[in-house]
Amino acid sequence: MSKQMEQAVVVRHLCLASTIKMLTLRAPAIAQCAEPGQFIHIRVADSYHPLLRRPFSIADADPQAGTIGIIYRIVGAGTELLAKVKEGDQINCLGPLGRAFELSCHRPLLVGGGMGLAPLLFLARRLCPRPVQVISGGRNAEEMVWPALFQPLCENIAITTDDGSIGLRGVTTDLLPQILTDGRFDRIYACGPRPMLIRVAEITKKFKVSCQISLEKHMACGIGACLACTCSGTDGLRRKVCSDGPVFWAEEVLL
Ligand code: FES
Repeated sequence: MSKQMEQAVVVRHLCLASTIKMLTLRAPAIAQCAEPGQFIHIRVADSYHPLLRRPFSIADADPQAGTIGIIYRIVGAGTELLAKVKEGDQINCLGPLGRAFELSCHRPLLVGGGMGLAPLLFLARRLCPRPVQVISGGRNAEEMVWPALFQPLCENIAITTDDGSIGLRGVTTDLLPQILTDGRFDRIYACGPRPMLIRVAEITKKFKVSCQISLEKHMACGIGACLACTCSGTDGLRRKVCSDGPVFWAEEVLL
Protein backbone atom coordinates (compact mmCIF):
# COMPACT_ATOMS: atom_id res chain seq x y z
CA MET A 1 0.00 0.00 0.00
CA SER A 2 1.35 3.46 -0.83
CA LYS A 3 1.54 6.59 1.30
CA GLN A 4 -1.64 8.06 2.74
CA MET A 5 -2.74 11.56 3.73
CA GLU A 6 -4.66 11.16 6.96
CA GLN A 7 -6.29 13.34 9.62
CA ALA A 8 -4.86 11.55 12.63
CA VAL A 9 -6.47 11.87 16.05
CA VAL A 10 -4.32 12.26 19.17
CA VAL A 11 -4.89 9.27 21.45
CA ARG A 12 -2.13 9.90 24.02
CA HIS A 13 0.60 12.49 24.50
CA LEU A 14 3.03 11.65 27.27
CA CYS A 15 6.11 13.36 28.70
CA LEU A 16 8.99 10.88 28.90
CA ALA A 17 11.54 13.50 30.05
CA SER A 18 11.54 17.29 30.33
CA THR A 19 12.09 17.74 26.56
CA ILE A 20 11.10 14.30 25.20
CA LYS A 21 7.49 13.35 24.41
CA MET A 22 5.67 10.30 23.04
CA LEU A 23 2.68 10.93 20.80
CA THR A 24 0.21 8.18 19.89
CA LEU A 25 -2.10 8.87 16.95
CA ARG A 26 -5.09 7.04 15.57
CA ALA A 27 -4.16 6.80 11.88
CA PRO A 28 -5.52 3.46 10.62
CA ALA A 29 -4.44 3.77 6.98
CA ILE A 30 -0.85 4.63 7.88
CA ALA A 31 -0.72 2.06 10.70
CA GLN A 32 -1.82 -0.63 8.25
CA CYS A 33 1.22 -0.33 6.00
CA ALA A 34 3.98 1.27 8.13
CA GLU A 35 7.31 -0.56 8.24
CA PRO A 36 10.24 0.05 10.63
CA GLY A 37 12.57 2.76 9.31
CA GLN A 38 9.80 4.72 7.61
CA PHE A 39 8.62 8.15 8.75
CA ILE A 40 5.57 10.37 8.74
CA HIS A 41 5.48 13.98 7.65
CA ILE A 42 3.34 16.04 10.02
CA ARG A 43 1.74 19.42 9.53
CA VAL A 44 2.28 20.71 13.06
CA ALA A 45 -0.10 23.67 12.78
CA ASP A 46 -3.27 24.54 10.86
CA SER A 47 -1.75 27.89 9.88
CA TYR A 48 1.11 28.40 7.41
CA HIS A 49 3.58 29.01 10.25
CA PRO A 50 5.64 26.92 10.20
CA LEU A 51 5.11 26.43 6.49
CA LEU A 52 6.74 23.06 6.10
CA ARG A 53 5.75 19.71 7.48
CA ARG A 54 8.14 18.06 9.95
CA PRO A 55 9.43 14.47 9.52
CA PHE A 56 9.23 12.03 12.47
CA SER A 57 10.41 8.43 12.53
CA ILE A 58 7.66 5.96 13.26
CA ALA A 59 8.44 4.52 16.69
CA ASP A 60 5.49 2.12 16.74
CA ALA A 61 2.60 1.01 14.57
CA ASP A 62 -0.26 -1.26 15.57
CA PRO A 63 -2.38 -2.24 12.53
CA GLN A 64 -5.05 -3.87 14.75
CA ALA A 65 -5.53 -0.81 16.94
CA GLY A 66 -5.01 1.52 13.97
CA THR A 67 -2.42 3.57 15.85
CA ILE A 68 1.07 4.87 15.23
CA GLY A 69 3.52 6.42 17.67
CA ILE A 70 6.36 8.90 17.48
CA ILE A 71 8.89 9.95 20.11
CA TYR A 72 10.42 13.39 19.70
CA ARG A 73 12.55 15.99 21.39
CA ILE A 74 11.28 19.56 21.68
CA VAL A 75 13.97 21.45 19.78
CA GLY A 76 12.42 24.31 17.81
CA ALA A 77 9.27 26.08 16.65
CA GLY A 78 7.75 23.01 14.99
CA THR A 79 8.16 20.64 17.91
CA GLU A 80 7.16 23.37 20.39
CA LEU A 81 3.83 23.62 18.57
CA LEU A 82 3.49 19.86 18.40
CA ALA A 83 4.17 19.58 22.14
CA LYS A 84 0.94 21.52 22.78
CA VAL A 85 -1.48 19.12 21.06
CA LYS A 86 -3.96 17.37 23.34
CA GLU A 87 -5.98 14.17 23.34
CA GLY A 88 -8.72 14.41 20.69
CA ASP A 89 -6.92 17.03 18.55
CA GLN A 90 -6.44 16.24 14.88
CA ILE A 91 -3.13 16.39 13.04
CA ASN A 92 -2.61 16.08 9.31
CA CYS A 93 -0.11 13.29 8.56
CA LEU A 94 1.43 12.05 5.33
CA GLY A 95 2.95 8.60 5.37
CA PRO A 96 4.38 6.13 5.71
CA LEU A 97 7.28 7.57 3.73
CA GLY A 98 10.73 6.34 2.80
CA ARG A 99 12.58 3.06 2.58
CA ALA A 100 12.26 0.65 5.50
CA PHE A 101 14.87 -1.52 7.21
CA GLU A 102 15.58 -4.89 5.61
CA LEU A 103 14.53 -7.48 8.20
CA SER A 104 16.32 -10.56 6.81
CA CYS A 105 18.70 -11.45 9.64
CA HIS A 106 18.98 -13.94 12.48
CA ARG A 107 20.90 -12.13 15.19
CA PRO A 108 20.45 -8.34 15.09
CA LEU A 109 22.23 -5.69 17.12
CA LEU A 110 20.58 -2.25 17.29
CA VAL A 111 22.82 0.77 17.91
CA GLY A 112 21.07 4.06 18.63
CA GLY A 113 22.16 7.49 19.79
CA GLY A 114 19.70 10.05 21.21
CA MET A 115 16.45 10.29 19.28
CA GLY A 116 17.90 7.83 16.76
CA LEU A 117 16.53 5.15 19.06
CA ALA A 118 12.94 5.98 18.05
CA PRO A 119 12.87 4.07 14.72
CA LEU A 120 14.86 1.24 16.32
CA LEU A 121 12.06 0.74 18.86
CA PHE A 122 9.60 -0.11 16.06
CA LEU A 123 12.29 -2.26 14.45
CA ALA A 124 12.84 -4.22 17.69
CA ARG A 125 9.11 -4.93 17.89
CA ARG A 126 9.00 -6.28 14.33
CA LEU A 127 12.20 -8.33 14.79
CA CYS A 128 10.68 -10.22 17.73
CA PRO A 129 10.81 -13.12 18.51
CA ARG A 130 14.35 -13.04 17.19
CA PRO A 131 16.77 -12.24 20.03
CA VAL A 132 17.47 -8.51 19.86
CA GLN A 133 20.33 -6.74 21.59
CA VAL A 134 20.54 -2.96 21.88
CA ILE A 135 23.23 -0.38 22.57
CA SER A 136 21.54 2.80 23.72
CA GLY A 137 23.49 6.05 23.90
CA GLY A 138 22.43 9.44 25.20
CA ARG A 139 23.41 12.61 27.00
CA ASN A 140 22.50 11.73 30.59
CA ALA A 141 20.28 9.66 32.88
CA GLU A 142 17.37 12.11 32.63
CA GLU A 143 17.15 11.61 28.86
CA MET A 144 17.80 7.86 28.95
CA VAL A 145 14.12 6.99 28.56
CA TRP A 146 14.83 4.05 26.25
CA PRO A 147 15.67 1.05 28.48
CA ALA A 148 12.10 0.89 29.86
CA LEU A 149 10.70 1.02 26.30
CA PHE A 150 13.06 -1.57 24.84
CA GLN A 151 13.10 -3.93 27.79
CA PRO A 152 10.01 -6.00 26.80
CA LEU A 153 11.37 -6.33 23.26
CA CYS A 154 15.02 -7.24 23.70
CA GLU A 155 17.17 -9.71 25.57
CA ASN A 156 19.87 -7.24 26.56
CA ILE A 157 20.43 -3.49 26.51
CA ALA A 158 23.78 -1.78 27.08
CA ILE A 159 23.77 1.91 28.00
CA THR A 160 26.25 4.71 27.46
CA THR A 161 25.88 8.36 28.45
CA ASP A 162 28.05 11.40 27.75
CA ASP A 163 28.29 12.26 31.45
CA GLY A 164 28.33 8.71 32.87
CA SER A 165 25.22 9.40 34.99
CA ILE A 166 23.89 5.99 33.90
CA GLY A 167 25.69 3.16 32.13
CA LEU A 168 29.18 3.52 30.72
CA ARG A 169 30.60 7.03 30.36
CA GLY A 170 31.23 7.41 26.64
CA VAL A 171 29.46 6.71 23.36
CA THR A 172 27.81 3.67 21.82
CA THR A 173 30.74 2.94 19.53
CA ASP A 174 33.07 2.54 22.52
CA LEU A 175 31.20 -0.71 23.23
CA LEU A 176 30.66 -1.92 19.69
CA PRO A 177 34.04 -3.57 18.89
CA GLN A 178 33.96 -5.59 22.10
CA ILE A 179 30.37 -6.74 21.48
CA LEU A 180 31.16 -7.79 17.89
CA THR A 181 34.27 -9.74 18.82
CA ASP A 182 32.58 -13.14 19.27
CA GLY A 183 30.91 -13.00 15.84
CA ARG A 184 27.37 -13.60 17.15
CA PHE A 185 25.64 -10.83 15.19
CA ASP A 186 24.79 -10.99 11.50
CA ARG A 187 23.22 -7.52 11.14
CA ILE A 188 23.78 -4.13 12.74
CA TYR A 189 21.07 -1.47 12.52
CA ALA A 190 22.14 2.03 13.48
CA CYS A 191 20.51 5.42 13.79
CA GLY A 192 21.86 8.52 15.49
CA PRO A 193 24.29 11.42 15.06
CA ARG A 194 26.50 11.43 11.97
CA PRO A 195 29.82 10.88 13.86
CA MET A 196 28.27 7.78 15.43
CA LEU A 197 27.15 6.43 12.05
CA ILE A 198 30.61 7.03 10.53
CA ARG A 199 32.21 5.06 13.35
CA VAL A 200 29.58 2.28 13.19
CA ALA A 201 30.21 1.93 9.44
CA GLU A 202 34.00 1.70 10.01
CA ILE A 203 33.68 -0.88 12.78
CA THR A 204 31.13 -3.10 11.00
CA LYS A 205 33.27 -3.06 7.85
CA LYS A 206 36.26 -4.20 9.88
CA PHE A 207 34.24 -7.01 11.48
CA LYS A 208 32.56 -7.89 8.15
CA VAL A 209 29.02 -7.59 9.54
CA SER A 210 26.23 -6.27 7.30
CA CYS A 211 25.00 -2.89 8.45
CA GLN A 212 22.01 -0.71 7.74
CA ILE A 213 21.96 2.92 8.83
CA SER A 214 19.10 5.39 9.01
CA LEU A 215 20.08 8.96 8.12
CA GLU A 216 18.63 12.10 9.66
CA LYS A 217 18.44 15.12 7.34
CA HIS A 218 16.46 18.33 7.10
CA MET A 219 13.56 17.72 4.77
CA ALA A 220 11.08 19.90 2.91
CA CYS A 221 8.74 17.92 0.65
CA GLY A 222 9.49 14.45 2.10
CA ILE A 223 8.51 12.77 -1.16
CA GLY A 224 11.55 13.11 -3.41
CA ALA A 225 10.49 16.27 -5.24
CA CYS A 226 12.61 19.18 -3.90
CA LEU A 227 16.17 17.79 -3.47
CA ALA A 228 16.51 19.43 -0.02
CA CYS A 229 17.70 16.23 1.58
CA THR A 230 20.30 14.75 -0.76
CA CYS A 231 23.51 12.97 0.20
CA SER A 232 26.30 11.39 -1.85
CA GLY A 233 26.22 7.75 -2.83
CA THR A 234 29.44 5.74 -3.05
CA ASP A 235 28.71 5.25 -6.77
CA GLY A 236 29.02 9.01 -7.36
CA LEU A 237 25.27 9.58 -7.69
CA ARG A 238 23.17 11.68 -5.34
CA ARG A 239 20.62 10.00 -3.07
CA LYS A 240 17.44 11.54 -1.68
CA VAL A 241 17.28 10.68 2.00
CA CYS A 242 13.48 11.03 2.07
CA SER A 243 12.69 8.64 -0.79
CA ASP A 244 15.87 6.59 -1.53
CA GLY A 245 16.35 6.35 2.28
CA PRO A 246 16.26 7.18 5.12
CA VAL A 247 17.56 3.60 5.47
CA PHE A 248 20.67 2.70 3.46
CA TRP A 249 23.24 -0.05 3.52
CA ALA A 250 26.33 1.45 5.17
CA GLU A 251 28.42 0.93 2.04
CA GLU A 252 25.84 2.65 -0.17
CA VAL A 253 26.40 6.26 0.97
CA LEU A 254 29.27 8.61 1.84
CA LEU A 255 28.77 9.71 5.43
FE1 FES B 1 12.32 16.97 -0.85
FE2 FES B 1 13.78 14.92 0.06
S1 FES B 1 12.79 16.43 1.21
S2 FES B 1 13.49 15.54 -2.00
